[in-house]
Amino acid sequence: MTHDLAIRGGTLATATETFRADIGIRDGRIVTIAEAITDAQDVIDATGKIVMPGGIEAHCHIAQESGMGVMTADDYESGSISAAFGGNSCIVPFAAQKKGQSLADTLATYDGRAAPKSVLDWSYHLILTDPTAAALAELPDVFARGVTSFKVFMTYATRVSDTQFLDILSVAGQHGALTMVHAENHDMLEWMASRMVAGGNIAPRYHAPSRPGLAEEEAINRAIALARLAQAPIFIVHVSTPGGAELVARARAAGGQVWAETCPQYLFLTRDDLDKPGMEGAKFICSPPLRDTATQAALWQHVQAGTLSLVSSDHAPYRYDDTGKFQAGRDVTFRQIANGMPGIEMRLPLMFSEGVMKGRISINQFVALSSTNAARIYGMLPRKGTLAIGADADIAIWDPTQTRIAGAMHDAMDYNPFAGMTVTGWPVTVLGRGQRIVDNGALCVKPGTGRFVKRAPIDLTGRAGQPVAELDRANNFGATLS
Ligand code: URP
Ligand code: ZN
Ligand code: ZN
Repeated sequence: MTHDLAIRGGTLATATETFRADIGIRDGRIVTIAEAITDAQDVIDATGKIVMPGGIEAHCHIAQESGMGVMTADDYESGSISAAFGGNSCIVPFAAQKKGQSLADTLATYDGRAAPKSVLDWSYHLILTDPTAAALAELPDVFARGVTSFKVFMTYATRVSDTQFLDILSVAGQHGALTMVHAENHDMLEWMASRMVAGGNIAPRYHAPSRPGLAEEEAINRAIALARLAQAPIFIVHVSTPGGAELVARARAAGGQVWAETCPQYLFLTRDDLDKPGMEGAKFICSPPLRDTATQAALWQHVQAGTLSLVSSDHAPYRYDDTGKFQAGRDVTFRQIANGMPGIEMRLPLMFSEGVMKGRISINQFVALSSTNAARIYGMLPRKGTLAIGADADIAIWDPTQTRIAGAMHDAMDYNPFAGMTVTGWPVTVLGRGQRIVDNGALCVKPGTGRFVKRAPIDLTGRAGQPVAELDRANNFGATLS
């Protein structure tokens, strides 16, 4: 037998093509793509199904303490299992540095959380909250380990100053690493929120107006400018405003090394969801906050146009109890409720149903948004994110005819913000390196099956950047870039 496994009879979809072919897998890799494969030990019949690269979930918080110090409900076992049931074969959660913690210790901590538990291959983005000279000096070791993306916050207690942001961008840029940013203007948020609370406006619904879209737009503009000055690539996470997306589009049109994503919650939910009886609105508190239907339409346009390269879940699972949302008590203002909502299992079914089935995006755009673009941006192509000879056999097989009403998921959560929505199209089988992870509703592997993915630097081909004369590397007037 030439192949360990063949996927037969399916329609293959990549980020660029859709075609009929069988896939042959050996030693965890794709070795054959052909009209008919007949020599396999094991066969999956994919007749009537769509066979595509497994999703790569590149923005999720798993076994991570939030800026408020609240641990997520999901660990790497429940988080990766839920991701797999939602059509993903790889996850890239965050490893968050604590104040005073070395980067080596941060990564070791997360290795201990991930390696024994993840059913999927995983990597990390490193969150820098304390970019001391010692921490910055450790960054080359972090790159060497294959962690080639960093995240900073412009708000929360974990925020960095603009000077610190420039230092991080500068070192990251020198090593070809990508800096991700949560962009909201902290002082604008503080000013708004304290005024609202002082006026007695403390219910969950006030979370949305306390974080105006203008705060996001200002911060995105600043983040792009800082990255440009430091001559470093930047990725804006969870864009939630048309104005923010337009700033990204303008920078990209000028050749800027700028990428961005949005999330399902900004495409499918609105601030009205925060206005539920009692404290129910707490389930929908996330940052940036939910917006409105006009914003949804504008963000869809930017997804279609390619301004937004990814649609990521920003899975930040805090239960609707005193371990999560109400860790500070129930009788609190919106400011003390944990920020974040789950979505790792719903991301792809929602995008498939509302995107592909409703004709907003092609199946190829779906593959790009859910997998290939993440692999390209985060240094995993061609090993992950595509169906190609030599690639890991990380594959999702979708049944486009299955209709489901969203309910409980496989995560450790006690609510699903998308519950009750009807979705058509569901991932029925997910393979990780050729092994069935999920098959027809059953989990097929044990915790610890996943492996760490060492990532390459971001590929900047075709993005010349927008050098600033005063900090041109060839004529930088003595300014140093590290
Ligand atoms: O509210 C959110 N999104 N919580 C998770 C942390 C973050 O800001 O991404
Ligand atoms: Zn964020
Ligand atoms: Zn996040």
